[in-house]
Amino acid sequence: MKIFSGTSNKALAQKIAENLNTPLSDLEVFVFPDGEKRIRILDKVLGENVFIVQSTSAPADENYMQLFFIIDALKRAGAKSTKAIIPYLGYQRQDHLFREGEAVSLDVVANLLKLGGVDEVISLDLHSIKIPEVFKVKLTHLSVLTLFAEKIRKMGNDITLVSPDMGGIRRIKLLSKLLGDAPYVIIEKNRDLGTGRVTANKIQGILSKKAIIVDDMISRGDTITMAADLLISSGAEEVSVFATHPVFSNNAPKTLQESKTERICVTDTISVPEEKRFPKLEVISVSRIIAENIKSA
Ligand code: R5P
Repeated sequence: MKIFSGTSNKALAQKIAENLNTPLSDLEVFVFPDGEKRIRILDKVLGENVFIVQSTSAPADENYMQLFFIIDALKRAGAKSTKAIIPYLGYQRQDHLFREGEAVSLDVVANLLKLGGVDEVISLDLHSIKIPEVFKVKLTHLSVLTLFAEKIRKMGNDITLVSPDMGGIRRIKLLSKLLGDAPYVIIEKNRDLGTGRVTANKIQGILSKKAIIVDDMISRGDTITMAADLLISSGAEEVSVFATHPVFSNNAPKTLQESKTERICVTDTISVPEEKRFPKLEVISVSRIIAENIKSA
């Protein structure tokens, strides 16, 4: 078995390899003056089962192309199987037609992965549980909720889990179960499909002092900011956040640091560069979860 990494999240790939007591295999990404890339596998892969770690976070298109080239190079070099570990699956929010005239971008990505000959895709905390149905190859959907539960258990008893929108109900119910039926509330959120702006209106359920917002991703940070405002004005004394994917677009780090939250815990499915880190941020690693999946395969 061999593990390779694209350039989008090498730190996570390194941690996965360490968890498996395996060195990360070498590949070369040569960038031509016009920005085109040339991929070359530098390790022997003939007859090997190969895993490639590549988050397709921003720049998603570039990271996808790099992944397709790596898969092609591995197949040409004789790999027995190629499995793509895509901790954050780019374009997952475009998994169906929202408005007439739109493309279903995730469907295009799924077709390209199939065409590229990948044998399996492994991803974490997908935006919708229906996403594996869009895929034409096996998609293994892992969850980070056990990691979040480990941390939340240490925060004491007086907690209420919060889903910042209706789409997160399934996630919040699963986490509540893991925490021995911890209480939860749901926020009614509306998003304008044209501008992307969100408004948080109403809380369904009863709050306690410590509110813990759980979400799949933070993009601009608007959902978290709105939810925290609403929770504090509704009686919560402390708001913490657990979100899997730190997409962090626009001014998210500043917005989140200035929000009415105490701490923001995310994972390393997407690499967070130094300039996007802020004092309230804590990053935990999903390497163990991925390594366990590889071991059990
Ligand atoms: C939406 O349904 C997702 O679960 C997240 O709540 C959303 O993508 C967060 O986006 P933003 O941080 O831009 O509000």
